[in-house]
Amino acid sequence: MTLAVNKQLMPLFNKPLIYYPLSTLLDCGIKDLLVITTPPAEPEFKKLLGDGAQWGVTIDYALQPSPAGIAQALTIGAEFLHGDPAALILGDNLFIAPEVTAAVRSLPASFSGALSFACRVQDPERYGVVAFAPDGSVSSIEEKPAQPKSSFALTGLYCFDGSAPQRAAQLKPSARGELEITDLHLSYLQDGLLQVYKMQRGSVWLDTGTPNALLDAADYIRIIETRQGILVGSPEISAFRQGFILQAELEALAAPLLKTQYGQYLYDLAHDPDAAARFAEWQP
Ligand code: G1P
Repeated sequence: MTLAVNKQLMPLFNKPLIYYPLSTLLDCGIKDLLVITTPPAEPEFKKLLGDGAQWGVTIDYALQPSPAGIAQALTIGAEFLHGDPAALILGDNLFIAPEVTAAVRSLPASFSGALSFACRVQDPERYGVVAFAPDGSVSSIEEKPAQPKSSFALTGLYCFDGSAPQRAAQLKPSARGELEITDLHLSYLQDGLLQVYKMQRGSVWLDTGTPNALLDAADYIRIIETRQGILVGSPEISAFRQGFILQAELEALAAPLLKTQYGQYLYDLAHDPDAAARFAEWQP
């Protein structure tokens, strides 16, 4: 028997890894979601996330049969998107960055071009690397360059206008056989339509691409949650804060989880004014 274990379904500290990027999308005010998975993992994701009704959103599913690159998500999602703009987030990226979710939330429906987020890191060669001209515009964008032109990594949250599926369909696979998200960005850059926002000092972006990074991220979440008495990356809380679910619905979600600290936090948020204030101060 083969057991398909998908990293995004595994817990990162006290909740599945996928909850973190998912709650970031909810924090961005997004209610129509498409989860793209491998075929063996799809039933597991459906079991975990359902149709999204419990969080006041809709979740659809689509398959990526082989790891052919992040940009392929746009062609896979073309029908779902109907020519609308979209935000795409990688299932293993964690953001604790209020200005990022606020920037996505404030994009108009008529948004044209691409908006992505860059974060300063010590090891840019592991990522897509964005370099900036003195006026702040993007001067280059390269996937995992041996000689990075800057220390700004392209994070795994991207906003694209309705032309992204057609642009993605025109890309050619890279040397590693993938439709690169950096090449999709280049297509926008060439048309003068790419904006990359530098994440502020103090904002957090964690990638969980290596075993060490995964443990570091779990530690980070454990420390923040334990010290501040909050939950980070909870879709229930994001949905409640965005007004997608009401207090009674939050309470109903907490009820079966009351024996866990996670459930207790949800219950407290619904009932205890102190807890509600604590969560209100925490701007995702
Ligand atoms: C991917 C992207 C890269 C981006 C990174 C963020 O890298 O290709 O541009 O910086 O995600 O996590 P990969 O996961 O393929 O190593």
